[in-house]
Amino acid sequence: MYRSHTCGALRIGDVGREVQLSGWVQASRDFGGMTFIDLRDRYGITQLVFNMEDDAGLCERARKLGREFVIRANGLVRERSNKNPNRETGDVEIEVRSFEVLNASKVPPFTIEDESDGGDDLRMKFRYLDMRRNPVKEKLVFRSNLALETRKYLTGQSFVEVETPFLIKSTPEGARDFVVPSRMNPGQFYALPQSPQTFKQILMVAGLDRYFQIVKCFRDEDLRADRQPEFTQIDCEMAFVTRADVLSTFEGLTKHLFRATKGIELPDFPVMTYDEAMQRFGSDKPDTRFGMEFVELNDLAKGKGFRVFDEAEMVVGICAQGQAEAYSNKQINELTDWVKRPQIGAKGLVYVKFNTDGSVKSSVGKFYSDDDLKEWGSKAGAEAGDMLLILSGEAEKTRKQLNELRLEMGRRMGLMKEGDFKPLWVIDFPLLEWDEEAGRFHAMHHPFTSPKKEDQERMLTGDHETMKSLRADAYDLVINGVEIGGGSIRIHDRKLQERNFKLLGFTDEEAEAQFGFLMGAFEYGAPPHGGIAFGFDRLCAVMDGETSIRDYIAFPKNNMGRDVMIDAPSPVSGEQLEELHLESTYQGEAEG
Ligand code: AMO
Repeated sequence: MYRSHTCGALRIGDVGREVQLSGWVQASRDFGGMTFIDLRDRYGITQLVFNMEDDAGLCERARKLGREFVIRANGLVRERSNKNPNRETGDVEIEVRSFEVLNASKVPPFTIEDESDGGDDLRMKFRYLDMRRNPVKEKLVFRSNLALETRKYLTGQSFVEVETPFLIKSTPEGARDFVVPSRMNPGQFYALPQSPQTFKQILMVAGLDRYFQIVKCFRDEDLRADRQPEFTQIDCEMAFVTRADVLSTFEGLTKHLFRATKGIELPDFPVMTYDEAMQRFGSDKPDTRFGMEFVELNDLAKGKGFRVFDEAEMVVGICAQGQAEAYSNKQINELTDWVKRPQIGAKGLVYVKFNTDGSVKSSVGKFYSDDDLKEWGSKAGAEAGDMLLILSGEAEKTRKQLNELRLEMGRRMGLMKEGDFKPLWVIDFPLLEWDEEAGRFHAMHHPFTSPKKEDQERMLTGDHETMKSLRADAYDLVINGVEIGGGSIRIHDRKLQERNFKLLGFTDEEAEAQFGFLMGAFEYGAPPHGGIAFGFDRLCAVMDGETSIRDYIAFPKNNMGRDVMIDAPSPVSGEQLEELHLESTYQGEAEG
């Protein structure tokens, strides 16, 4: 037997018991006559005591134990004289009678504490040590609970969990594919799924009616804090449903997850159209934990001789409450530099301060009277003490820039409160996006998304300009400014699907070669269907109040897409390449 209890189990009621614990040496403190060791396992930390007077030999051996040694200890539970209220086992300690070293440990390359001194790459290289730390361990446990509750809820709603293959051909979700060469089919490749999209639609044609899967997806795209090349989706599809059915089912799932794992009751989710989100927040994933909504000032700001505004397609601002006196000239300059950084790309920043003494101060005061500026203020709902921040330029770009500024001001002003969750649905996205450079349309969601019913006829018969105005029956779930999930009602009719591929620049042959199987299935009684996928890693992070998904993934990739623990990707042997019918310029390197 290795243990009678875990290191997190013992309480005052256990005093007097003979127990056996196994775990890792977290820390040891030597006070001459006494040695204390903190023994840690997944469940907690228990203090072990060795007394020189009781057993000098045992105490000597205990002093030699290094950090992260694995030991098994036997002893008696006793009440601590100086209790540790910060630890669940803090009322007791173990008077050790005997112990044995189960395994020694090298000195770990970083401290195994909640706040570690290890840098990112070091932590990832020694991920097994990193995971011994509470914050990482707790995130993985939270993820496991969330997966369990997801399965409970969805199976309770008659969803069937079906596994779909990983060795497939391209399912376009807008990223590059990871490809896998086929040994048995020279010169041919599988693609790893960017999502199980086509398979889940086939499952609906097959009559499974309600499908879900907690599934890995693979996308070869640049990494960010909320993006990994392999990530997990809660992927779902339903037959005979409208948008309202899908939204209410997945709003139900989200509410269930918050209730079951965090004890939070979420109110009903607001629904906002894409156009409204862009107009009010300059983003299709608005963070609605705070207001600071966009105020369009074109009609008030143009025609007064300020050339920058006169020439701009859009003049738009936000009102930062209570910031007029908080921002000195120096700080305004710093904020101006911030919006001018290449990542944001604004040409400049105009401010109007409505001081508490009633005076108005602005960087464009030369061009506008105080009354003009007060009119802007009243349109923006500004009160004494508030400050307007205004950007101008080409409409779409300016909105994006102001979105970044709004979020930055939200951060600086502490408006993104911990424990505050603001979910919403964004609906009615454009179906197609015109790419000026490439001279072609892209699917805003993916090529299987249906236009809204009222737009179907226009899609089949309309001209080029009409295509730009088509609306998709697509929706996103956004929580605190993060796109948690996206989905749509699908095309289930061959003619409409063919038309969509054509608009997206596929020739008939290309569409047939890539997606003939799906369009073929549509000809055998495809039911109307729709679905959604939640980014599971993102859901974990957002629900847990974090911005990075990294620590919710046991073995994540770094910014270069590398797993630094196993050192992947790595070259393969010339022999392996030959078997795969691949000639490589890297072959020499691989062999060297
Ligand atoms: P979409 O491409 O919107 O839709 O993906 C769904 C959700 O997956 C998450 N996500 C990611 N998470 C981490 N790293 C990534 N690289 C990454 N890419 C996406 C996001 C996103 O909202 N087949 C459709 C769904 C459908 O139509 O049913 C799809 O994959 O949270």
